[in-house]
Amino acid sequence: MIEKNFSIRVIGCQMNVHDGDKLRGELLSRGWREADDENGADFVVFFTCSVRERAEQKAASEMGKFGKKWKKSRRPCLAFLGCMAARVGSAMARKFPWIAVTAGPAHIGLVPDAMDRALETGEKFIAGSGTDVAGSISCAPKSRGNPHKAYVTVANGCDQFCAYCIVPYVRGRFASRAPEDVIGEARALVRNGAAEITLLGQNVDAYGKDFDGGGRGRFASLLDGVSSIDGLRRVRFATSHPSDFTDDILDVMRDRPNICPSINLPVQAGSDRVLREMNRRYTKDEYVSLVRRIRAALPESSITTDLIVGFPGETEEDFEESVALFEELRFDLAHTAAYSPREGTPAASRADQVPPAERARRLVKLNGVQTEISRKINASMVGRTYEVLLDEPSPKGEGLLQGRTATDKVVLVRAPLEMAGAFRAARVIGSGPWCLEGELV
Ligand code: SAM
Ligand code: SF4
Ligand code: F3S
Repeated sequence: MIEKNFSIRVIGCQMNVHDGDKLRGELLSRGWREADDENGADFVVFFTCSVRERAEQKAASEMGKFGKKWKKSRRPCLAFLGCMAARVGSAMARKFPWIAVTAGPAHIGLVPDAMDRALETGEKFIAGSGTDVAGSISCAPKSRGNPHKAYVTVANGCDQFCAYCIVPYVRGRFASRAPEDVIGEARALVRNGAAEITLLGQNVDAYGKDFDGGGRGRFASLLDGVSSIDGLRRVRFATSHPSDFTDDILDVMRDRPNICPSINLPVQAGSDRVLREMNRRYTKDEYVSLVRRIRAALPESSITTDLIVGFPGETEEDFEESVALFEELRFDLAHTAAYSPREGTPAASRADQVPPAERARRLVKLNGVQTEISRKINASMVGRTYEVLLDEPSPKGEGLLQGRTATDKVVLVRAPLEMAGAFRAARVIGSGPWCLEGELV
């Protein structure tokens, strides 16, 4: 049997990281080997993101760089996967003949066979651009990139059609998985060593709304089921949509200490007019009241958000409402972005686009405000002790391990590599806006 080597690169969100883990597991179980570095790989697999134009440009430029080497030796071939592949897979495969396999997220189940065939017979595989699921890969617990942490998808796709967002077009319609499948997969992962499980969906809190009878309370009962698994130390979930976040979720979180009090609740804008035009289905006041309810129920919780500046038609006053919302709610962290027009979405064809330089100015201003807030929140943690799941070597320096508190704060501690995967108490001795410095106690 010829040895087949692969290497995986992931751009984009946890959805792609998780798809990468599943593909890695499947390839290893078929006798493929993960190359130590890309230079020795027969196949370099790209998981790509479409959410902003820059992410697509980066992927295209990185894939383009392989042409020179491939023309000389016909190696490595590329697999072009992920959200961008659902959009432009076949066009890119025509442009870059070194792309031997391309498939969007709905067709990932067809990729392992296609990669085998590409190496054995030279056959190319270009999946259709549809979003109907054609085969899936279940999670392979033993081969995760990180053995201590695992993801479980609770729902695929998204039906929200926010006016700026490409995700519903590349990941398909919202479809919840059966609760027994989700809980069974989580249980298998825990048996195989996962201490922390993150439940994933674009809209996790809408889980089950598409089941017969629809109804609410379903994400809360799924959380209850997953958090009851013996030996599971931490449960996280992302992302929550403010209009689907019901109070019964807070009840379960309060009752179950292993559900981490850390909630990503994207607001996207601070102005009601912009929220309406974004098709977000809540007002600023409804959002503020939800954050207050979360903080009342879970006083130690951390809340992070996502926000877009420069959505078409956003005035200076609208933007200042976003700034004021950040100052009022004091999020632990914010993922902010300048609006990027995505072809095919309603917002992209609007005539009232905010000039790019103005979008950039607003982003810098808002980031400055949030950085100071995060810096102060983190500084207030100095001197306190937290339980940290030590995780992986920190890129910030030799001998440092990176860990996370239950509230998802990054803590760097001096600790031996063998401690990765352990829960330890760490006292915070220093802080910055993005991470904390700790010492083991
Ligand atoms: N489902 C989540 C929600 O409802 O907020 C977010 C998923 S989206 C993949 C991740 C983030 O990308 C969004 O929260 C949004 O802030 C950002 N995003 C999406 N489309 C964008 C666009 N066209 N331009 C800039 N940022 C965008
Ligand atoms: Fe995109 Fe909106 Fe769906 Fe989030 S909820 S993935 S922002 S369409
Ligand atoms: Fe995620 Fe990017 Fe796709 S953010 S869902 S990888 S478009």
